[in-house]
Amino acid sequence: MTTILDGKGLADRMRAEIAEETAAFVARSSIRPCLVAVLVGEDPASRIYVRNKEKACEKAGMESRLVRLPASTTTDALLHLVRELNVDSGVHGILVQLPLPDGCDEKRILDAIDPHKDVDAFHPENVGLLSQGRPRYLPCTPAGIRELLIRSNIDTAGKHVVVVGRSDIVGKPMGLILVQKARGADATVTIAHSRTKNLPEITRLGDVVVVAIGRPKFLTADMIKPGAIVIDVGINRLEDGTLCGDVDFESVKETAGAITPVPGGVGPLTITMLLRNTLTSAIAATEQVNSPPEPSNAG
Ligand code: GUN
Repeated sequence: MTTILDGKGLADRMRAEIAEETAAFVARSSIRPCLVAVLVGEDPASRIYVRNKEKACEKAGMESRLVRLPASTTTDALLHLVRELNVDSGVHGILVQLPLPDGCDEKRILDAIDPHKDVDAFHPENVGLLSQGRPRYLPCTPAGIRELLIRSNIDTAGKHVVVVGRSDIVGKPMGLILVQKARGADATVTIAHSRTKNLPEITRLGDVVVVAIGRPKFLTADMIKPGAIVIDVGINRLEDGTLCGDVDFESVKETAGAITPVPGGVGPLTITMLLRNTLTSAIAATEQVNSPPEPSNAG
């Protein structure tokens, strides 16, 4: 029997946990964790994502602010906004929704975000900390997948995980997380991509296969070994308006040991981990302000 991994159910349970922790934090600090989302342009998918993030924040008892800007916004104007948010002590998380319109220098803008408020974990300092195995924040989508594997009792230690896709948002950080000497990791990791030769031969080696390439129904049953765990990160809209993942769910579910559906798999966990990071940031900022100074060695 193939297990359908219920990301939505897990996300609901985790959001309830986060809401409880948020209420406790607000009660003891009188500070409400605050996430600011910056949305530039009118991309319909981005508008839906950002709206869902706002709703999730409010439901968890966090403050959510949205800054909407026209597609014509310059890199300099965005840098100015980011710097203002960096020094606003009422803001704990800054999320610049990607992709940015052509003409905005994405890297410069992400690099300008205060790494302590970088709840996406895209800043080079946070990527570096993760690669050294001492993360400040885990990037949201890979962190959600890790949580789903742990809470589904799927042990990755010593297993071969094949990640298909090398994006900075999912593929690369997924590999970085799973290769760490840590709980929910310790895997042998292969990152495959568009230039990989003999991809089906590689994916068939995977005890776990994570697909994040944005191509509808790309992974087919002949590309996995029987019993493999299949994690589908894709969210693709077909011409008839329905959503599908990067995995051909109907065929792959007959061969896989466990599989995530789309919708209702990985997607809801991404926003959940964003809430987790925002709460972590608010707690860290408050403890820094309120905690006594570090003992000094002088004298
Ligand atoms: N666009 C698609 N996914 C993401 C994400 O996780 N964070 C941001 N900032 N933009 C995205």
